[in-house]
Amino acid sequence: MCGIVGYIGSEECLPILINGLKKLEYRGYDSSGIALASSNDIEIIKSKGNLKNLENELNSKKYDSNMGIGHTRWATHGIPSVLNAHPHVCCENNIALVHNGIIENYQELKKELKSKGHKFCSETDTEVLVHLVEENIKETTSFREAVEKSLSKVKGSYAITVMNKNEPETLIAARKDSPLVIGSAKDGNFVASDIPAILEKTRNISILDDNEIAILKANSVDFYSNGKKVNKKPIEVTWDLEAAEKGGYEDFMLKEIYEQPKAVKETLRAYLNGKKIDLSFLGLKKVDLKEIDRIFVLACGTSYHAAWVGKLIIEQWANLPVEIDISSEFRYRFPVLSENTLILAVTQSGETADTLAGVKEALNRGQKTLAITNVLGSTITREANGVLLTQAGPEIGVAATKTFTTQISVLYLLALELAKVRGTLSDAEIQKKIEDILTLPAKIEEALSTAEAIEKLAGEYYKKPDFLFLGRGFGLPVALEGALKLKEISYIHAEGCAAGEMKHGPIALIDENCPIVAVANKSKTYAKVVSNIEEVKARGADVIAVISENEKLLKNYLKKYITVPLIDEALSPITTIIPLQLFAYYMAKAKGLNVDQPRNLAKSVTVE
Ligand code: F6R
Repeated sequence: MCGIVGYIGSEECLPILINGLKKLEYRGYDSSGIALASSNDIEIIKSKGNLKNLENELNSKKYDSNMGIGHTRWATHGIPSVLNAHPHVCCENNIALVHNGIIENYQELKKELKSKGHKFCSETDTEVLVHLVEENIKETTSFREAVEKSLSKVKGSYAITVMNKNEPETLIAARKDSPLVIGSAKDGNFVASDIPAILEKTRNISILDDNEIAILKANSVDFYSNGKKVNKKPIEVTWDLEAAEKGGYEDFMLKEIYEQPKAVKETLRAYLNGKKIDLSFLGLKKVDLKEIDRIFVLACGTSYHAAWVGKLIIEQWANLPVEIDISSEFRYRFPVLSENTLILAVTQSGETADTLAGVKEALNRGQKTLAITNVLGSTITREANGVLLTQAGPEIGVAATKTFTTQISVLYLLALELAKVRGTLSDAEIQKKIEDILTLPAKIEEALSTAEAIEKLAGEYYKKPDFLFLGRGFGLPVALEGALKLKEISYIHAEGCAAGEMKHGPIALIDENCPIVAVANKSKTYAKVVSNIEEVKARGADVIAVISENEKLLKNYLKKYITVPLIDEALSPITTIIPLQLFAYYMAKAKGLNVDQPRNLAKSVTVE
């Protein structure tokens, strides 16, 4: 949730920290701060609100430092404020620390430290860590040992970076259940919560594992696990740096919406060899698809909606039972799982705490696990037995867009592979479906051409307080996702509902102030959706429908509609979601909101 960056080397540190934090702001943006080592002291500069405020604060001053740490916060313990912002410092002001995660036993530790004379000034759980290190430095022979000893007392999750005034040549980084990567370059070494933060400086990245500590000096990095030195092989990151820049678009979200044809194409290319599916690449190591008798999918938010499309498609094409569960529910119940139930985790970031915990629970129970994720090197890629990477490139806007359509693309190929090994579709049928799937990038392109009309619609509707999104079958997860997009970035109340379920309660909401957005493309249930539209219209509702091109009935009947290309209904979520993403975007813009950093949200939810 929070973003960490650190640097030690021969370059000036401040611009490295600020540029790094800019790339991490998606992880939280309610306050930020930096600590810089400067002539026998540690200088701390913090600010409430997003990074701009910190930059304004820094503008008037000059700093000359080659080592420092920075943090952008998503509040868990304590309100967003300067006092609660990181870095935190100890009583003597000689140790500074930044943290991402949650220290579950912080109350207990705080009490103990207070009894030893430590004075706390924030409401955060993090502050206990810096006091713990201060306390343990007295009892150990090295800074590293002090950090190790402190972490051994902690329950919960952490990614931390610590600096010590008395050891100005060392930065220490450690992690457990929260991501942290180490980068190395000629002019110094880096630590960050996520690769894009340091990509401008190095492509040579080592991913810290749980319970590992990295000791960074200007010219070296050493890794330790359980007090013993370990060797780590760095990976060479090959992404295009521009992928993490706005590239002329006003916002990351808009750029990412428009990147979907390419993102889907790249994702399909990764797993299609001509028209043959090949999931072995980065793939299904220990998982044998033939033996699976059921799939249980874990996911949260947008990934859950993609998983829902996956369920429908796998059931339809591979005739295999699929259950989907919200990760935070799965981990606290005890679903009946057969030996051959595959646990499939769908997660853009690969770091969502509840999804990771669900996978760990499944692994403890001896289940096979497979993950669909967008982030190479993320925790889930190291936990799950098999991994299928989406090729969306970095998604910076907090609202997931291109990762939704790429997750679904991978799920299509997985469904076809299952259909093949289970013999539920003939080779010819599979070939035909692959041909259709390959048309998706072009269909998305067509769907994107509705942007101008949607911007106009948003201008008419942005003052409405409530929206109801309706859909059936493949249109239902799309309706849920459309409602989620609208509420998260425009703060307009929006509910998604199965169109057939509407009469059982939600219909009471309908009046002229609650417009309906109906996913009404051509499908088996099309006529039913049309009847539902008639029902809401009869009650005074204003209806905006997403319809298929060449559609006559609704065009004649409705004033507000958006057309998407006609396609097999199983593939339609990838096209029908496009106007809904654009609708949410333009509604938020019409309200003058920050679409990339909606309030209270963070891109990667690493706490429960
Ligand atoms: C919504 C959104 C979130 C995420 C959810 C899961 O736009 O982005 O709902 O989908 O937090 O995150 P991942 O996919 O990283 O597990």
